Amino acid sequence: MTAMQRLDGHRGSSMNPDNNNQNQAPRGQPPHRLVGPSDSQRIRLEAVSKRWGESVAVDGIGFDVVPGEFVIMLGPSGCGKSTTLRMIAGLEQASAGRIHIGERDVTYLPPGDRGISMVFQSYALFPHLSVADNIVFGLRSRKVPKAERRERLARVAELVDLQVYLERKPAQLSGGQRQRVALARAIISEHPICLMDEPLSNLDARLRGEMRREIKALQQRLGMTVIYVTHDQVEAMSMGDRVILMQGGKIEQDGTPAELYDRPATAFAASFIGSPAMNLVSLAAAADGAVIEGEPRCSVASHEAKGHWLGIRPEEIYLLPADAPGVPAEVIDAEYLGADSIVRLKVGSQQLRARLDGKPALTAGSPCRLQWRSEAAHFFAAEDGQRLAIVGHDLAAPSGRQRFQPGRAGAEGNVVQEREAQASSHHAGNDTPGVNR
Ligand SMILES: Nc1ncnc2c1ncn2[C@@H]1O[C@H](COP(=O)(O)OP(=O)(O)OP(=O)(O)O)[C@@H](O)[C@H]1O
Ligand SMILES: [Mg+2]
Repeated sequence: MTAMQRLDGHRGSSMNPDNNNQNQAPRGQPPHRLVGPSDSQRIRLEAVSKRWGESVAVDGIGFDVVPGEFVIMLGPSGCGKSTTLRMIAGLEQASAGRIHIGERDVTYLPPGDRGISMVFQSYALFPHLSVADNIVFGLRSRKVPKAERRERLARVAELVDLQVYLERKPAQLSGGQRQRVALARAIISEHPICLMDEPLSNLDARLRGEMRREIKALQQRLGMTVIYVTHDQVEAMSMGDRVILMQGGKIEQDGTPAELYDRPATAFAASFIGSPAMNLVSLAAAADGAVIEGEPRCSVASHEAKGHWLGIRPEEIYLLPADAPGVPAEVIDAEYLGADSIVRLKVGSQQLRARLDGKPALTAGSPCRLQWRSEAAHFFAAEDGQRLAIVGHDLAAPSGRQRFQPGRAGAEGNVVQEREAQASSHHAGNDTPGVNR
């Protein structure tokens, strides 16, 4: 039994003032949620901006968060994620636009009247209070009775693994422990809307993975609406029902994790999601279509693609012997990662990376051919990076039979990778191309 389940199991009627049992699943149906999300949890931003003097931190963004949704705000440092969250919380005043929570326009309401809890990027703990007092601070000011405070504190402290630190002061904690205090303070409040600003950034990898699952489970069980800021794409992909990707104060793409991965709206979105990032190479004109710059022998799309960008995920590239059909390439080097390897390849004047299973026996400088399915090719405009509706050539062999078998040396003795199973599943009409395998 996980800590989260324990939290649920001990959950009393006092857990949420909105819970009058009317939201519980009917008899015979699984109780998905203990509290059903209600319309008061809907969040709507309309053309919201934030300016400080001349500088624009958030530039006219708009989105809707439906009750019970887990929305991730993702983007590089300085793109305006925290500022957006702070405007929703009421800690920053929007320079333009409107913010609604439920039916209410909260644009000018003070933070305390918005019915939300927040986990700050900077923790914002009271240095003179103990861990326990920091966690129950909000309950105390809401006059929650002492016995109930104690009970909720015990549950939440166990959840975030802070039981032995309750008497310490924040200064006597590590960064990760302080972060967990901040998280505990938000969880204990049981507000139906929780805003979290990089709540796991200071935790070690193990605890982070654990907390990721626990936060998601807590959100689902309590039917909370969560807006969660991160620049970690693993958190975004694994936790989010929806991801809002920002850059330079604007929204680049707003969609499900699979939509961002399978159909990036811009070259920026393509390069931000996926590790290693999607390859982006520039295309030039050749006699029979658009080719990768510097490699005129194999066209990859029709003429309309010339001058634009071709994007292919490293996991979508098949490596074949030099006498196979496909785009001629040369191995630069390979980085072995355990389960797979990242191979750098030179194609004309461009470089690509391919993700291959296991540890392929590749020799630097050896020639090979690259193939990919037409669905794996994405095209982006050179001018503004927007996705183009161009379909690339299908370079992949019609069946997996021609593919090189590991252990059977090719003409050059260089490698190549076996992907028969995957290839045949694609050719059998797998309808989720591009999903990480
Ligand atoms: N109080 C302020 N005064 C002036 N500029 C500010 C202020 N707060 C933030 N900014 C600027 O607004 C922009 C967005 O900042 P914000 O904190 O929202 O970024 P972020 O996406 O949360 O980045 P990070 O991932 O580094 O936390 C940045 O360029 C930042 O310098
Ligand atoms: Mg921030």
